[in-house]
Amino acid sequence: MSKDGVNAGRRRFLVAATSVVGAAGAVGAAIPFLGSWQPSAKAKAAGAPVRVNISKVEPGQQVVAEWRGKPVFIVNRTDEVMSNLAKLDSVVSDPSSEHSEQPTYVDPKNRAIKPNLLIVEGLCTHLGCAPTYRPEVAPADLGPDWVGGYFCACHGSKYDLAGRVFKGQPAPLNLPVPPHSYETDEIVIIGIDQETA
Ligand code: FES
Repeated sequence: MSKDGVNAGRRRFLVAATSVVGAAGAVGAAIPFLGSWQPSAKAKAAGAPVRVNISKVEPGQQVVAEWRGKPVFIVNRTDEVMSNLAKLDSVVSDPSSEHSEQPTYVDPKNRAIKPNLLIVEGLCTHLGCAPTYRPEVAPADLGPDWVGGYFCACHGSKYDLAGRVFKGQPAPLNLPVPPHSYETDEIVIIGIDQETA
């Protein structure tokens, strides 16, 4: 465990700019846009914390922030999603994130401070592509058992809506949960740990 409270899971961010799919900076898009993605000069600079207003994020919606040059997915999970997550422990590779990177102050399974609000880094733990948010249930291309999650188109890794990778995927670990904290009910700060004292 490192001093900042983040598990020392292996970092596997081999970020290939040409393969990354994501939205940088502005929050407000419902899903990440497609295209090559380059960290802004500002984002490259030392990784300052990022404040995000989450008051307009509707249930079921994802917005994308940028922190330390990486996309960060923020999802307002529905009650149905939360109920489905509890049923996936046996089919994900690391259900309590014992080997994956997440702060000690988030719930080990739903991986959040506020249960409905998922905040994960948006780079696949295989080779660093940005997975796509796929909240639909049983879409034709992902099969009848799909209850919503992330799909990485580069080599097919699948994650649930807690960012937990399913068994048997190329990706070895869950999507990392970055350090974060709530300044108010509406403002989350990515890059500053929640007070745990
Ligand atoms: S980079 Fe995501 S599966 Fe390979």
